[in-house]
Amino acid sequence: MTSVALLGQILDFANRADPYPLYAELRRTPVVRDESGPYLVSTYWEIRSLLHDPRVSSDIRNLAPEAKTGPRTDDPDLPPSFIRLDPPDHDRLRRLIMRTYGPPHSPRRVYGLHGEISGIVSGLIDRFRGRERIDLVDDFSYPFPVTVICRLLGVPQEDEQRFHGWADTVATAIEPPVGTPEEQEAHWQAIREAHHQLADYLSGLIEQRRRAPREDMISALATDCGADESPMSLPEMLSNLTLLLIAGHETTVNLITNGMLTLLRHPDTLKQLRADPDMVIPLVEELLRFEPPVQLLPERTTLDDIEIAGTTIPQGASLWLVPASGNRDPQRFPEPDRFLPDRPDNQHFGFGTGIHNCIGSPLARLEAQTALAELVRRLDNPRLVEDPPPYRHNAVLRGPRHLPIAFDGLS
Ligand code: HEM
Repeated sequence: MTSVALLGQILDFANRADPYPLYAELRRTPVVRDESGPYLVSTYWEIRSLLHDPRVSSDIRNLAPEAKTGPRTDDPDLPPSFIRLDPPDHDRLRRLIMRTYGPPHSPRRVYGLHGEISGIVSGLIDRFRGRERIDLVDDFSYPFPVTVICRLLGVPQEDEQRFHGWADTVATAIEPPVGTPEEQEAHWQAIREAHHQLADYLSGLIEQRRRAPREDMISALATDCGADESPMSLPEMLSNLTLLLIAGHETTVNLITNGMLTLLRHPDTLKQLRADPDMVIPLVEELLRFEPPVQLLPERTTLDDIEIAGTTIPQGASLWLVPASGNRDPQRFPEPDRFLPDRPDNQHFGFGTGIHNCIGSPLARLEAQTALAELVRRLDNPRLVEDPPPYRHNAVLRGPRHLPIAFDGLS
């Protein structure tokens, strides 16, 4: 059987700014074993088929210990969150969360946040006044989604700063650790501590809301008696609320940052968007295809032998799907390497597909649409200062660490 040596190159920081030629090379063999062990799947229809296959497990406990290499974002003292579980446990927890969050296509709680999201965006942009240059990541994209998630969950505004601190630290678990062994140990220790403080804080808030519920997600969760299924235990609530925080943080940061970067590289499209703000809706879909924040879905495993694209993936194999490559598959998308906001039939993998598809997509879409339309409307003559910008180390959740933008003024 053929194998390739591409995963190491994809994970290599040197290729972070432009991994797409590597994905094109990978697609020559849609399903292939990497020298380092995992099976890589890079073409659209094969990724889709496996993400809908009940023989593919997301439960990390089914994976051999030596195959576990990815980031550890769950709190080790809590039960796994539902992104890392299979049915029926996954389905029960997801249903319980969805009941508090609203169904994905009529997201009542998210829709109710519309005005608040616009207010947060305007407030952050107002702070650019008097400056000629900003770092879009630190000054805008990073603080924005945490503020929104605080409002959704019902974290009181006076606690938001503390919550931001824990969220930032917990989110760094997604990055591969760097530095000396002592520095790495200090890094994990800081993350464990932030997990504990976050769990203590959330436990207190859940208790308060149980006694005096309000119109927010934590109240809905704390007072849900389960009806036809067993309600969430406190450890389950803590684990799954932390999941919402992590899953919705760095991803949204990267979508907004990748969005401005792509617009500044396509000045004609930026001009069109300024003239026609409604264009932001298809534009965000094309961004999710062209520069998706989630590039890879690592560490799924096979519960049985699976035959696909002429290859048999054996039971127990470690499977890495590459949705960012499926999004550039010419068998599915004509001219896949062009950014075409009016592209018809744009069924990208930006939010995944199958039973684990993103429950935060209505919120993420609304945040990115509001942010990009408003940034483009208000920044006068925005320009990139360096291209490519410096990237984060992370290959799975890929995006710039900084995005310096120069501009002439603010409307
Ligand atoms: C799942 C992308 C924002 C909560 C996923 C998956 C992707 C994704 C690709 C599938 C993961 C898998 O198959 O293992 C994104 C992107 C976002 C975003 C690109 C922003 C641009 C959010 C937000 C929230 C959220 C704002 C919460 C408020 C979740 C949860 C799951 C998930 C809970 C797990 C669903 C399950 O396992 O059933 N997301 N997401 N995401 N996302 Fe998002």
